Amino acid sequence: MTDSSRRVHWDNVYTTKGEKEVSWYQDHATPSLDLMALTGLSADAAIIDIGGGASRLVDDLLLAKFGRLTVLDLSAVALDAARQRLGESAASVTWKVADVTTWEPSQSYDLWHDRAVFHFLTDQADQSAYVERLKQAVKPSGFVIIGTFAPDGPERCSGLQVVRYDAASLAAVLGAEFDLIDARRHEHTTPWGAVQRFQFATFHRH
Ligand SMILES: C[S@@+](CC[C@H](N)C(=O)[O-])C[C@H]1O[C@@H](n2cnc3c(N)ncnc32)[C@H](O)[C@@H]1O
Repeated sequence: MTDSSRRVHWDNVYTTKGEKEVSWYQDHATPSLDLMALTGLSADAAIIDIGGGASRLVDDLLLAKFGRLTVLDLSAVALDAARQRLGESAASVTWKVADVTTWEPSQSYDLWHDRAVFHFLTDQADQSAYVERLKQAVKPSGFVIIGTFAPDGPERCSGLQVVRYDAASLAAVLGAEFDLIDARRHEHTTPWGAVQRFQFATFHRH
C-alpha cells in the first residue's frame, strides 16, 4: 500500500466508525500499561505511541503524570478524535500526523510503543523502513514494546491483510541490538465479544 492509499483507508475507518465500533478498542490499554510499568521508566520519560490512533492509552499515561508524550498516526481524523476527547489536556501531548515508514524523527525517545500497527506492514521494504525509523528514534538503553497478532491470531484486520508474529520473529525483525526482556500473549476481546490473540514483546536497547 502507498502512503496515500493507507491514509485514505484509515481516515475512512475513523470517519465512518464510532470509537467502540472498531475491533481494537480498549477502555484501558492494560497490557501496554503493564509492560510500561515493567520498564521502570519514570514520568519524565519521552514516550511515543506509534499508530496510536484514537487509543485511550494516552489518557491513562497523562493520568499517571507522564509529561513527554507523542502520539503518531497517519490518520489526522483519528488524532483529532483523541484530542477532542482529552480536551484541555491534549495540549500537553505532541500529535504527529505521519506514516511511520516515511517519518523523519526529530527527537529521540525512551520508549517506543506500538499496538497493532507493525503487523499491517506486509511489504518487506515497509518493514525495513519501520525498523530504520525505530532505530533512529529509540535512545540507547531505550525500550520498545510491540504488540501484533499472534501466529494463531486473526489473518486480517480492518479489511487488511496482516503479518502475524511470535516473540522470536519480532526479535529477529529488530536484530541483535535489542534484548527481548519480556514476551507475553494476550487475548483481546473486541467490543462485540470476539477473541483476538496478540503477541506482545518488550525489548531493551543496548
Ligand atoms: C488497529 S489500529 C490500532 C490503534 C491503536 N494503536 C490502538 O491500539 O488502539 C492501527 C492504527 O495504525 C495506524 N496506522 C496504520 N498504518 C500506519 C502507518 N504506516 N503509519 C502510522 N500509522 C499507521 C492507523 O491509522 C490506526 O490508527
